[in-house]
Amino acid sequence: MIDTKRWNLVNGNNKEEMIKEAAKLLKAGSTVAFPTETVYGLGADATNEKAVANIFQAKGRPQDNPLIAHVATKEQLLLLVKDVPEYVNRLIDNFSPGPITYVLPSNGTCADNVTAGLETVGVRIPSHPVAIALLKECNIPIAAPSANISGKPSPTAADHVWEDLYGKIAGVVDGGPTGVGVESTVIDCTQDIPIILRPGGISKEELEEVVDKVLVDPAMLNKEEGHVPKAPGMKYQHYAPEVPLWLIEGGSERVQRVYDELIEEGKRVGILASSVTLEPLHVDQKISLGETLEDVAANLYDGLRKFRQEDVDIILCDTYPEYGIGQAIMNRLRKAASRYISSEE
Ligand code: TXA
Ligand code: MG
Repeated sequence: MIDTKRWNLVNGNNKEEMIKEAAKLLKAGSTVAFPTETVYGLGADATNEKAVANIFQAKGRPQDNPLIAHVATKEQLLLLVKDVPEYVNRLIDNFSPGPITYVLPSNGTCADNVTAGLETVGVRIPSHPVAIALLKECNIPIAAPSANISGKPSPTAADHVWEDLYGKIAGVVDGGPTGVGVESTVIDCTQDIPIILRPGGISKEELEEVVDKVLVDPAMLNKEEGHVPKAPGMKYQHYAPEVPLWLIEGGSERVQRVYDELIEEGKRVGILASSVTLEPLHVDQKISLGETLEDVAANLYDGLRKFRQEDVDIILCDTYPEYGIGQAIMNRLRKAASRYISSEE
């Protein structure tokens, strides 16, 4: 059991000192969680195989799931990869720093367990000021998956990290709640046309404004047999709340009907929905995800974590249009849900 440190950068007044302390631990091979604009990451020196092994250990992460290497600048990013197609330069210049990860051929700088033995490595420049400050201070690539226990919703606040990883990691840099709320868009850039492996903070529509064509990994679009996702992490059960989550199409009326039926059966039911869906409902336990798709993305993981076994048996959640960040929201909700009730049912 490690005595996990917590640096409070929200109210603390010696922020530079705290960043230096956290960076020192990272450089010495320890694991430290830090905020990015998407979710909190659990960092370790990406060039140090032993340090990276501690990430897998702390999270209980499957060994075949590669990690993203985080750097502060485009120059540092290019030091980790080879064979960079021309369009990647355009993507970097338009979207990085930001919630996007490029999968490119690795030049071997990152440790083998970062790439889980693949020939490629995922690289990203986060835009969160605390992440950038930390990466600059370390001056090494930092491997960082989301800082949650594998299978649970990703952490969007330092308290979420604390709940999952206290005692297992060297420290947490608390930079307050993250902004975007869902993880980065992962793009395979090893082909002539970029392929989205995981939808995220940058939407397909935004990407298409910069490159002519963007494909989507077929494994993401349908769950038919034979489509193995190219991002190994996409095949696992993910984002699971403590209690079963049902996704309900059809808005307020439909949610109310399913709710009433479950209450009739003696179940305790919690509702997780946009303020628009919630407004007309007559229910006891509810959490609002906010109004816009951006609000829903920002509040989603916190909402999934808030409903507890002590309080509810089932969570009902509404569905969202699959454009913009709605694609990432629905991708995560489908993975989190144990049941999907479509409007035809
Ligand atoms: O926003 C984010 O991306 C956050 C923050 C902390 O940066 N990180 C994150 O990491 O979400 P993680 O490990 O939870 O998810 C990384 C995803 C996984 O699905 C993994 O399989 C995929 O990216 N991935 C990483 N490297 C890859 C590679 N070389 N080829 C294909 N997929 C890769
Ligand atoms: Mg994750």
